[in-house]
Amino acid sequence: MSAPPVSGDLTVDAIRAHLQTNSLGQTIRLLDETPSTNTAALALSRDRAPHGTVVVAERQTAGRGRLRREWFSPSGGNLYCSVLLRRTIAPHVRERWLSWIPLITGVAAARGIRRVTGLDPCLKWPNDILVGGKKAGGVLCETTGAGEATPCVVIGIGINVNTAVEDFPEEFREQATTLASEAGVLIDRATLLAAVLLELETRSEALAAGQDPDLAREYSGLCSTLGQRVRVSLIGGTTHEGRASTIGSDGSLHIVPDGTREDGGGDPLVVRAGDVTHLR
Ligand code: BTN
Repeated sequence: MSAPPVSGDLTVDAIRAHLQTNSLGQTIRLLDETPSTNTAALALSRDRAPHGTVVVAERQTAGRGRLRREWFSPSGGNLYCSVLLRRTIAPHVRERWLSWIPLITGVAAARGIRRVTGLDPCLKWPNDILVGGKKAGGVLCETTGAGEATPCVVIGIGINVNTAVEDFPEEFREQATTLASEAGVLIDRATLLAAVLLELETRSEALAAGQDPDLAREYSGLCSTLGQRVRVSLIGGTTHEGRASTIGSDGSLHIVPDGTREDGGGDPLVVRAGDVTHLR
């Protein structure tokens, strides 16, 4: 993509000018302020909004992160968007499709960021977007109708783009970063959003076409958790430490717990949801 002038304003026209997708973003709702773009997209999905609808906000007043955390969402230059996927998926692949959507979204965000900024993001399992070891973005997927022929997934993507790191609340400042502070220049959000949507559309089509092995390989190549010693906190509070070994065919993280043999001597711990910390 050619370098456009960096504008502080995120407008529908600016997004459309860069959009190269067939379905994602063909309907765009741009809001100045909303509690959460995911909540807004879920409401639109109940009103039968079409596949590919994108909700973008300048600011969220109750932005939500994974594991019921808050997502810091001030105005002034970040990206808060939610993409509505409504696909008819064959019953035997539906569960697998749903479990891979959050991971391929992390990949799409990382690839879009790289294309627009030249930075080299990686992913902390499942889909934290890290730049220089610090968190620059995250993904929150919420599904309705998971057991139905046409489930609806709202994919929420938050990327710290142009906000100053000093403006983050103190408790986040240590582990958070922004693309502008890593790249040393302001980043045009419309260009970035269009790039992420294109990368996401390509991968979600590939996933629907059953190309999960290729996507899994691409995910593993970007996932900096693999090979690391980690601490995982499971929902409910139990924690385990060990070495992250592989990604399962359902997108789960396999961990060889400390004290067990890494040569296949024991069963790995299979983590489907939880919080991972990379240990030194
Ligand atoms: C995480 O890493 O915890 C996930 C963060 C996801 C934040 C995005 S911002 C847009 C969308 N709306 C929300 O309320 N959350 C997601």
